[in-house]
Amino acid sequence: MRHFAFLLLFVPATLFSQIYKNPKASEDDRANDLLSRMTLEEKIDYIGGYKDFYIRGMARFGLPEIKMTDGPVGTRNYGPTTAYPASILASATWDTTLAYRFGEALGKDARERGVHILLAPGVNIYRSPMNGRNFEYLGEDPFLSGKMASNYIQGVQSQHVVATVKHFAANNQEWDRNNVSSDMDERTLREIYLPAFKMAVQEGKAGAVMNSYNLVNGQHATQNGHLNNDILKGEWQFDGMLMSDWVATYDGVGAASGGLDLEMPSGAFMNRESLLPAIKSGKIPESVIDDKVRRILRIIFRFGFYDNAYVASETKPNAENAQVTLDLARNGIVLLKNDSAILPLKKSIKSIAVIGPNAKQCVAGGGSSYTTPFECVSLLDGITKYDKSISVKYFAGAVPPMEEYITQSPLFISADSKTKGLKAEYFLNQNLSGLPFLKRNEAEINHNWSDATKDEGIPADHFSARYTGTIRPEKTAVYKLAVRGDDGYNLFVDGKTVIDMWADHASTLKTVELSLEAGKTYDVKLEYYENAGDAQIEFAVYHEVIDFTEAEKMAASADVAIVSVGFDNNSEGEGFDRSFELPPYQEELINVVAKANPNTIVVLNAGGNVYMQTWLPHVKGLLHAWFPGQEGGTAVAEILFGKTNPSGKLPASFEKKWEDNPTYNNYHDPDGDKKVFYGEGLNIGYRYFDRAAVKPEFPFGFGLSYTTFAYSNLKITGSGTTFTVTFNIKNTGEIAGAESAQVYVHQNVSPVERPFKELKGFAKVFLKAGESKTVSVTLDANAFSYFKTEKNAFGYDAGKFNVLVGASSEDIRLEETIQVK
Ligand code: BGC
Repeated sequence: MRHFAFLLLFVPATLFSQIYKNPKASEDDRANDLLSRMTLEEKIDYIGGYKDFYIRGMARFGLPEIKMTDGPVGTRNYGPTTAYPASILASATWDTTLAYRFGEALGKDARERGVHILLAPGVNIYRSPMNGRNFEYLGEDPFLSGKMASNYIQGVQSQHVVATVKHFAANNQEWDRNNVSSDMDERTLREIYLPAFKMAVQEGKAGAVMNSYNLVNGQHATQNGHLNNDILKGEWQFDGMLMSDWVATYDGVGAASGGLDLEMPSGAFMNRESLLPAIKSGKIPESVIDDKVRRILRIIFRFGFYDNAYVASETKPNAENAQVTLDLARNGIVLLKNDSAILPLKKSIKSIAVIGPNAKQCVAGGGSSYTTPFECVSLLDGITKYDKSISVKYFAGAVPPMEEYITQSPLFISADSKTKGLKAEYFLNQNLSGLPFLKRNEAEINHNWSDATKDEGIPADHFSARYTGTIRPEKTAVYKLAVRGDDGYNLFVDGKTVIDMWADHASTLKTVELSLEAGKTYDVKLEYYENAGDAQIEFAVYHEVIDFTEAEKMAASADVAIVSVGFDNNSEGEGFDRSFELPPYQEELINVVAKANPNTIVVLNAGGNVYMQTWLPHVKGLLHAWFPGQEGGTAVAEILFGKTNPSGKLPASFEKKWEDNPTYNNYHDPDGDKKVFYGEGLNIGYRYFDRAAVKPEFPFGFGLSYTTFAYSNLKITGSGTTFTVTFNIKNTGEIAGAESAQVYVHQNVSPVERPFKELKGFAKVFLKAGESKTVSVTLDANAFSYFKTEKNAFGYDAGKFNVLVGASSEDIRLEETIQVK
């Protein structure tokens, strides 16, 4: 009896004290309560990821495993899903409502897969066209990026899925991304590279942030206290969790003190081994670990992950989300050139030649965002389906795949041997040291080890190989020596280095041309190492003659030729930077077609600009389709035939030549010291072209329409630092269309140098033919502020500001001066 009474008293008291279980308690109380029940060891384990894409569960507290998936253009990790357009295309829509719908659709896809955290959006600034991940980001302008990102985040999070804004910070190139330091002055960091993150956190309320691989001003992002503790968690008051990029942590104690909350994909550095002694010795207070766990738990309670089970359901094609991808593509594809109003195609057109390597693909950028769609409309599908009465012919016009060249390579294991291939030696370290553990002859160097251990014990990671032999060319000709590898490789011919790619990177193709003579032999040596992740090495030696006759014939016989070129997931993606020029032979292909048919239109796929001067003057039309997602072919066809009036505008300036880019002398670690000094400062993109003598081919904010718009009646009301800018836009053409109006601000006289103009507002309006609408954009103190280095804070200087309203950064239609007090 006494015993029973004790139980009665005990049970309710326990329940009451388990605040973390009480859905009515505040998220902070719940997090603190649960935290207080965890042992130090449990806490440390908790801040290291688990099973690659999870935060571990804790059965004794009923804490579920927290499941993540990549974004930003599809929930990629758990089988086929909706494949959305590239993020930069979303930015090119200039439509924040669409950005929200994009995020919302992704949030729904995530829920269907039982996912709690989406690893998106990416908001790193477009600094040079070569950055392999520009397509995953939102362009060159911090304000546009920040607005699009915060709307996308709100969309994702409306589905109770956490959005993760990445990659914090200044990860503006892929080349050698683990080792290069992005160095810049504080003002540049604050005004260009951080605002989109700040808006994502403060306006979007992103629940998570992901640190980048690179260093910023000499300190790896994952242990950069200035970025993480002072700015993100201090000044911006971010109360969510800061996770690392996958294998972007380099020092457990450094990361723990430098503000990282969660090491992904596992606690390789932030673990018991490194942290327990540091806590014991007082190097790291336990409260630092508590703060990390509290942040993770707070998000778990905030988003309802504790109280609601997230269960994966059967996934199938989703018509509503397919509609979102189509609407994005319709609005974000940019018409850049339309000579003689070649577009929309005339009703009289009866035959179309579709030529080029991208026409039949579901074209997308490569890397961790690459998404396998349930179904996809290629450009060729889109055009073929659009109007069945038109005859559509197709020719790929592509170079043969690398495999063919590998097989035909004139490689022999020695100068006088008949055995084809090379001698291979494999080492159980990354630098070819000591004795090889495996020696064999290989007829072809063509390895993509998804499971290397099945290949005579070659480990999955951390090994190296040397391949040696002879090239015996059959002809006297210019030969190409092409190596594709993930990670590093070097190629030597007759003892001389001809390719040096000895650094960690994703699959990257490098080609060198050499004049070789028939009858001679050339010693060849290829060295390769694999660090972690995918392992690949391919080598081909070939003499190539590309035959364009078929493309020429087909183009000549059609009313219109559409050339589908650009990059794809093999040539543009995460882990490597791409060329500014189009991939090999595409410029030639465009020119051959354009010569055969004056009505040639190029449809381009890329995450940004490409070199156009050698072919642009020869074609009548150019449509920048970015990577348009699974419905891209439908959207492009609608634009070509005029069912959709294009309304996308460039979120980045398109320079004529790479030399015209302000980062030309300081992109990529120019002198090999692993430092990239952002010497152009604030002057990237239009901020640079506004001051420079050179002009871009296509300016920031530019895009053509099939109709015309007139701007009028600018009125600015308000006082102090709060103003409302209103103006009218009229569709003065014959058909309905949409216009993205841009509001830039410029201070006339300033104690410091300020950009000539800065985007501070924008609006997209849909107008029927002849229709007119009043657009209204508000400006607040942020619009007039800059980072005052001496005060370590943003502030403004009262005075006169010009407000410029334009159809692009170089097409200002209305202007007025206001007095900011
Ligand atoms: C990428 C991240 C991605 C992560 C997980 C990394 O390689 O940089 O953007 O979220 O992998 O796949």
